[in-house]
Formats: sequence, C-alpha cells, structure tokens
Amino acid sequence: MTFGSETGRRVAIVAGVRTPFTKAGTALKSFNAIELGKLCVAELLQRTELDTREVQAIVFGTVIPNVIAPNIAREIALMPMLPKGVQAFTVSRACTSANQAITDAADQIVLGHIDVAIAGGAETLSNIPMLHAQGFSDAVVRASKSKSMGGRASAVAKIRPRDLVPITPAIAEPSTGETMGQSAEKMAKLNGITREEQDQFALRSHRMAAAGTADGRLTAEIMPVYVPPKYDTFATADNGVRSDTSFEQLAALKPVFDRKYGTVTAGNASPLTDGGACVLLMSEEKARALGYPPLGFIRSYAYAALDPGEQLLQGPVLAVPVALKRAGLTLRDMDLVEMHEAFAAQVLSNLRGLESHEWAKRAGFSEPVGEVDRAKLNVMGGSIAIGHPFGATGSRITVTLLNELGRRGGQFGLMTVCAAGGMGFAMVVERA
Ligand SMILES: CC(C)(COP(=O)(O)OP(=O)(O)OC[C@H]1O[C@@H](n2cnc3c(N)ncnc32)[C@H](O)[C@@H]1OP(=O)(O)O)[C@@H](O)C(=O)NCCC(=O)NCCS
Repeated sequence: MTFGSETGRRVAIVAGVRTPFTKAGTALKSFNAIELGKLCVAELLQRTELDTREVQAIVFGTVIPNVIAPNIAREIALMPMLPKGVQAFTVSRACTSANQAITDAADQIVLGHIDVAIAGGAETLSNIPMLHAQGFSDAVVRASKSKSMGGRASAVAKIRPRDLVPITPAIAEPSTGETMGQSAEKMAKLNGITREEQDQFALRSHRMAAAGTADGRLTAEIMPVYVPPKYDTFATADNGVRSDTSFEQLAALKPVFDRKYGTVTAGNASPLTDGGACVLLMSEEKARALGYPPLGFIRSYAYAALDPGEQLLQGPVLAVPVALKRAGLTLRDMDLVEMHEAFAAQVLSNLRGLESHEWAKRAGFSEPVGEVDRAKLNVMGGSIAIGHPFGATGSRITVTLLNELGRRGGQFGLMTVCAAGGMGFAMVVERA
C-alpha cells in the first residue's frame, strides 16, 4: 500500500533548501544547530514566498543534542517571521534524523492532523558539548547546595585534576564501543571491499560533486550564508568537494581507524561537517490550493535495524526491499538512486547486500533487490565529497534526488541512509 493511500492523502514535497555543507572548524563553525536551522527555514520561506500563517508544524532532526535548548525545532519555530503558534518537536535517529523528521511530519499530514509542515535537520560538529567527569559534577552540585563560603570552597577543593579532563561525545556505538570508522573497516573486510574500490568510489563522489557544483545543479539547493564574525564574506558551496583530487592522492592516504591493516582513510570517509537543510511538506490538496507545483510525492518509506555488533551500517539493505514493496515497484522502476555515503566501504557493502540472496532472505524476501545501475547512482556525488552534517543529511538527499529527478524528467527515485545503532532508512519518491 503506497504512503497516504490509507487516508487518501498524498504528501507533497514542495521545496527544499540547505546551507552549504562545510567541514567542521571552517566557515560555519560559529553557528549552533538552532542557528543553522533558522537560516535554512528562513530561506525556504523566502524562496517559496509562503504565507507563514500556513505553517502548522516544524520537525527537526539533530544527533548531538543541544543541552541548553534540546528542542531545537521549537527554537527555530520561534523566529520572528513565524507565528508563535507553530508546534514543533525535535527527533533523533542518528544519521537518519532528518528522514525521521520528514516522515514524522508526513505521517501527521497523512493522518489529516495538519496540511503544511517544515521538516529537516541541522548539525554542528564544530560546537559539540564537552562533558565533565562525575567527580567534577558532584563537586559543583555540592558547592551549589552549600550555604556557606567555607562549604563551597571545601566542595571545590575536592575536585581532582582527573575530574577536569573533558569528555567529548565519540562517534562510537554505546552498546559495542565500536566507532563508525571501525565498523566501516569491518564491513570492508566482511564484504571483500578493497582499498582500491573504496578510493575509486571516493574519487567518483568528488568528481561528480565538483561537476554538480560547477554547473549549478548542486548549488541550486544551497543558500549563501554570510560568515561571522565580520559577515563580510559568504559561503555559497560545499567546501569539502575537491575538484583536484586524484586516485593517486587518495591511494597515498594512511588508514585512520586500523592503521596497520586498514583501508578506510580521510579520503574515502565522509568528513565531519556543519550544516542545516529543510523541506516544505504539504498535503497534495493544500499544495494545489495554494498553487505550489510539488517537486514530488512520498510514495513509500521503511526503517530497519540489525545487531550493531554485526555490520553496523548495513541497515539500508533491509529497509530497501520493504520500501520498494510498499511502493509496489522494483529497483528497475527507479530513475535515480541516492545513497548516503558515510564511507565508501559502507556504500559498496550496501550495494553488494542489495544483490545478495542471503540479505534478501534476512529482509524476508525470496529474491534480492538487484544491482543498482551505477549510471543512476549518486549522480552529483554524495556525502564523501559534499559532507555529512549527521542530522541534516537526510533532508539534503531528499532535495538532491527530487531536483535531479525533475531535471531529468524521471518518475521514481530511491534514497537510502545508514545510521548508527545498526539502523537503515529507505524512501521511494515519485513525481506527479
Ligand atoms: C576520517 C576522519 C577521522 C579524517 O579526519 P581529518 O584527519 O580531520 O581529515 P582531513 O580532512 O584533515 O584529512 C586528512 C588528510 O587527508 C587529506 N585528504 C582528505 N581527503 C582527501 C582527498 N579526497 N584527496 C586528497 N587528500 C585528501 C587532507 O588534505 C589531509 O591532509 P593533510 O594532513 O596533509 O592536511 C574524519 O573525517 C572522520 O572521523 N570521518 C568519519 C565521520 C564519521 O564517522 N561519520 C559517521 C558516518 S555515519
């Protein structure tokens, strides 16, 4: 059953925009996720000239929480240009957080609760919260409860040097301790993905993203952002894309996560990135009533999960056949396929998994999804070159796919995103 057919309400994706995706510590380093979200939501509203009184909900995804303002969606909704009555909530599902935001908003539209929503995600890896050791927290709590100066001084005096060592969030699985990079290494080994294949794939990502940037296809989805503190320059494009990289340069890089026997390098992994992205969703009826031609419609979606201790980033392989089945379509019907590139080893493992009988069986199907036609895959590169602000990527991929589908006059598109926790996402979109 296609998405929305239960209630006869199709969900249109009307427009989408994003900030440039910039490497952590560069152009967007002084923005937090709320500011990145506000930037792209404001741009979306300006580009679409939507009467802001039409917006009924804002849903945003983020992975690294803002401890001061955890519901970043509501902070974004409180921008002066929006009415104060826009309900808003924040979701977290690792690298599929923006997809979760989009599908949550879409679910509300299908249910008939709302007609218009903005959904997306934002992430800053330049501004991650630093935590203190328990000893430091205990001392601060004791000091704050103490009624005398002496009591406060003695509580603070109990802080030991080791309590002052900051704890930073690791890109690692809490359940297994394995980092994403180590998982990618493991997947490369289990699926027989060579270093050369990974580097070739990374090179392809950069070449295609560079072409999409040069001819304006990628930049069409990007808003310019004035760079603080002076605001006298602005970022207009993704700054991780290397038009000048070569196979030789990539092959010369040292492995990062398994220095001795590894194959995953800074060149064939997605970089740590800052950015925000969002889409405007409407019920089909509302889009028509307001005169917005949709970029496309959500035809189906599916989430899946497997044991994170196994092949952490192989979740899309379980989600894709379910999404295709719900869409009533096959891989052959897809005009384009957009796969999130956390690591070249992961995309190549996912592609092998989609061709495998064993993985098909695990997903509950007798036949594999099949071989993804490389001419339809990530035709403007992917997260390896473009960058990967965790909470925003799902929204970026949705817009990249729909815009390109429109340019090519295609009908159906498939997207996949892998996520921490052994999870995966797949969505089928359609035009008209
Ligand atoms: C892999 C990782 C550790 C690399 O971080 P880093 O060392 O800061 O990366 P850099 O961009 O500085 O690159 C390291 C070097 O490789 C070079 N390099 C990177 N990509 C290159 C390319 N495509 N071509 C040529 N050289 C490249 C850089 O120029 C740099 O060289 P230098 O040391 O001489 O300056 C980091 O990007 C990371 O953790 N990525 C994975 C993120 C992750 O787990 N995401 C979750 C996915 S779901």
